[in-house]
Amino acid sequence: MVKSAFCMLLALAVAGAQPLRSHLPSSPPLGKSDAEKKILAVLDGIVKSHQTYLSVPIEDGRALRLLTQAAGARSVVEIGTSTGYSGLWFCLALQSTGGHLTTLELDHQRASRAREHFQQAGVDNLVTIVEGDAHENVTKLQGSIDIAFIDADKDGYLDYLHKLLPLVRPGGLILAHNVGMVPDYVKAVTSSPDLETIFYMQGGGLAVTLKKP
Ligand SMILES: C[S@@+](CC[C@H](N)C(=O)[O-])C[C@H]1O[C@@H](n2cnc3c(N)ncnc32)[C@H](O)[C@@H]1O
Repeated sequence: MVKSAFCMLLALAVAGAQPLRSHLPSSPPLGKSDAEKKILAVLDGIVKSHQTYLSVPIEDGRALRLLTQAAGARSVVEIGTSTGYSGLWFCLALQSTGGHLTTLELDHQRASRAREHFQQAGVDNLVTIVEGDAHENVTKLQGSIDIAFIDADKDGYLDYLHKLLPLVRPGGLILAHNVGMVPDYVKAVTSSPDLETIFYMQGGGLAVTLKKP
């Protein structure tokens, strides 16, 4: 029931998005400061040199940055660093919010590549990479989280949600990527009175969930 409702929403969003999209200019992100231009250049380089690994599309990267900036987030936690592409989008906001990204990754090679990218972009001081199994490491996180972003093993989304929810501050956000692939997660975030969820479908399917105060 929930799955079919979600599929219908997805189809409507896709159908509705096409005519709108064709009327929108697809302008690239424009850097304002030198620091912003530097991060955008690294993001562009990652794509052009095919150093992404299952990374979010640019539309979702822009959404992550916007939400982080608008929330004035000081503490962001990401599950699934990959090569640091989405992390750099968070950093575009964190450099002015004064915030920090803690990002969790299982694969050592991808974590190393991400570390290089954060250094190249001049944001390594804004990021802590935690290597190892995020199901375990997420339970060791301390302090309250303004924004949590789930983008790792799809089977693990519910476990991540349950472990992250107590850590996210009231009024904070839980974001999850490719949610079309995880109906159980969609059910969980749309059937709790404690949560309010919308779906941003311009990229890969991003659930944006508010933990109600
Ligand atoms: C979809 S990619 C993340 C993409 C990244 N967020 C981006 O947009 O650039 C998923 C990542 O999660 C990692 N991953 C999978 N299972 C994990 C686990 N149990 N703990 C930590 N990371 C995990 C994978 O190694 C992979 O790099």
